[in-house]
Amino acid sequence: MKIAFIGLGIMGSRMAANLLKNGADLTVFNRSKAPVEALVAQGAKSAPTANEAVKDADIVFSMLSTPEVVEYVFMSEGGVLSAMPSNAIWVDCTTVNPSFSASEKAAADKVGIRFIDAPVAGTLPHAQNAELVFFTGGEASLLAEVEPYLNHMGKKVLHIGETGKGASFKMLVNIMLAQSMIIFSEAVLLGEKMGMEKDFLLNALPGLVVSAPFTKFKAEMVRSGEYDVQFPLEWMHKDLHLAAISAYEMNQPLYLANVAKELFAEANKKGMGRLDFAAIHKYLEER
Ligand SMILES: NC(=O)c1ccc[n+]([C@@H]2O[C@H](COP(=O)([O-])OP(=O)(O)OC[C@H]3O[C@@H](n4cnc5c(N)ncnc54)[C@H](OP(=O)(O)O)[C@@H]3O)[C@@H](O)[C@H]2O)c1
Repeated sequence: MKIAFIGLGIMGSRMAANLLKNGADLTVFNRSKAPVEALVAQGAKSAPTANEAVKDADIVFSMLSTPEVVEYVFMSEGGVLSAMPSNAIWVDCTTVNPSFSASEKAAADKVGIRFIDAPVAGTLPHAQNAELVFFTGGEASLLAEVEPYLNHMGKKVLHIGETGKGASFKMLVNIMLAQSMIIFSEAVLLGEKMGMEKDFLLNALPGLVVSAPFTKFKAEMVRSGEYDVQFPLEWMHKDLHLAAISAYEMNQPLYLANVAKELFAEANKKGMGRLDFAAIHKYLEER
C-alpha cells in the first residue's frame, strides 16, 4: 500500500512518524517545510505539492487545522481530491463538525474516492507514543482496510457509525474537555481566595471522584505556569465553535459549552492561541 500524509503539525508529524516506524511506504506534504525535512530524514518521501504527494496513493491521511483548511486543500477546484487515484481512500483525522464530514464524503463520492472520518482522542504524547484513540465514521468494510494503519498510530479504533459519527463523538469529548478544564480552574482560583495553598489544591482536586482525570496532568502546567502547547487553545476555541454549529443544526440548546466558547474566544484574542488549552487557567487568573 502506498500511503500519503497531508498536514504535519503537532499531531500529524508524530502520526506520520509512527507509520514510518512500522515500515509504511509514505509520502508526506506540509505547507511549511521543517516537519517534512524531519520526516524525510526518518525515511519518508516528500513531494513539492499536496497533489503530487497523493497521485499514486492507496490511502491518504489528513491532519489539518480547520474545516476551512480541509475544504481549501482537498475540496476546492484542482484540490487534492481531484489528484487522488480513483477508488483510493481518504481518511480525515482533522477535528471537524459532522455536517462538514458529510460534505467531505459527498465531494469524495463525486470523484470516486472512498471516505472515512477518523478524528482522534489524545494529545502530543499520545500521538508520539502511538496511543491515540480513533473515533471513526464510515462503512465497516472500508474501515477494515485502513485499520492496520490506524493501529500503527493509536491504541484503539472505535467504529462509532456511519459517516460523520466519528466527528460527532469527538465533538462530545471536546465540549466535556473544555468545560472540565474551566471548572477545575475556577475551583483552584476560588480555593486560593479562601486561603488554601495552591499546591494543596493542585494535588488534591484532580484525585477526587468528581474531577476529570486529565486535570492531574494539566495541574502540572498550572503549577509551573508553563503552558507549552500540546493541544493549542485556538483549536479548542474552534471545536467549541463547531459544537455550536452542530447544536444549531440539531436545534439543541447548548448552554454551558457556549459560555466556555466565549471564554476561549477571549483568551485566544489575548494572544494565548498557541499555548496549551490549559492556559484558560492563566486567562481566568489574570481576568
Ligand atoms: N494537538 C492536539 O492535542 C489535538 C488532539 C486531537 C485533535 N486535534 C485536532 O487535530 C488537528 C490538527 O491539530 P494540531 O494540534 O496538529 O494542529 P497544528 O499543529 O496547528 O497543525 C495544523 C496543520 O494544518 C496545516 N495548515 C494550517 N493552515 C493551513 C493552510 N491554510 N494551508 C495548508 N495547511 C495548513 C498546518 O501547516 P503548517 O505546519 O504549515 O502551519 C499544519 O500541518 C486539529 O483539527 C485539532 O483540532 C489536535
